[in-house]
Amino acid sequence: LRTCWLNGTYIAEEQAHVSIFDRGLLFGDGVYEVAAVFNGQLLDADRHLVRLARSQREIGLPAAYDAATLMGVMQELATRNGIQEGLVYLQVTRGAAERDFPFPAQVHPTVFAYARPKKLSDDPNAAGVRVHAVPDLRWQRCDIKSTSMLAQVLAKQAAREAGAFEALMHEDGLVTEGGSSNIWIVRDGIAYTRPTSHDILAGITRDVIFDVADDAGVTVVQRAFTLEQALAADECLMTSATSFVLPITRIDDHVVGSGAPGPLTQRLREGYLARAA
Ligand code: PDD
Repeated sequence: LRTCWLNGTYIAEEQAHVSIFDRGLLFGDGVYEVAAVFNGQLLDADRHLVRLARSQREIGLPAAYDAATLMGVMQELATRNGIQEGLVYLQVTRGAAERDFPFPAQVHPTVFAYARPKKLSDDPNAAGVRVHAVPDLRWQRCDIKSTSMLAQVLAKQAAREAGAFEALMHEDGLVTEGGSSNIWIVRDGIAYTRPTSHDILAGITRDVIFDVADDAGVTVVQRAFTLEQALAADECLMTSATSFVLPITRIDDHVVGSGAPGPLTQRLREGYLARAA
């Protein structure tokens, strides 16, 4: 029986219930984080909690628990559920209230977390994945890690129907990011990824890869690139907390580079794994 955590209490997942009036359910009025568990330990949970606090600030939702408490909860869930490799999901919503779009006078946030096993080492996707290009239909604050994600749900469903592992979203000819990942390309030995703005999520893995690249002597340039540049790239890759670094070897029916995971992508993945171990 799996244990989750809801509003300050550890309980069996089957016993965890929230109101039909929860604003997370009614409006997608909430924010979340996903952190990896590797060797039984949380990866970069501190950075995830800094981003959660920022997301909450941006939507005017005060923190109900301090970062140290949430950090303890996330680690405890991994431990209690016997998770060596997997993820911890943490969500905060503006809680239950009579349905009205503006904030309720009294906010009682709903805060919960759960853990799941997921194989992260020896990932068969490290042999390369296919992505499906779709227009980015999202709003103008993609920097907020919001649970309002209908556009990503549709993008990733379209990707699945196209037999692809991930959606590659683009807007005005430029690649924004993946459905739930950041996208990078490599050209002439330099790695490019889109600069942070309101157009993309500032990925924690993306951030960590800057350090990994530094250590590996790989130059990274934060610059937006077009879909055409991605198609013509030597290498293409994606990063996220739950996939680490994966080579993108196909964009729809187009083969990227040699069609095999590129050397620079492999160096970054290995560097990331070594740092996590
Ligand atoms: N998604 N961009 C988007 C739109 C994302 O949803 C995510 C993460 C990322 C990568 O961020 P990070 O490196 O911090 O995981 C980029 C998580 C994994 C999810 O929704 O499951």
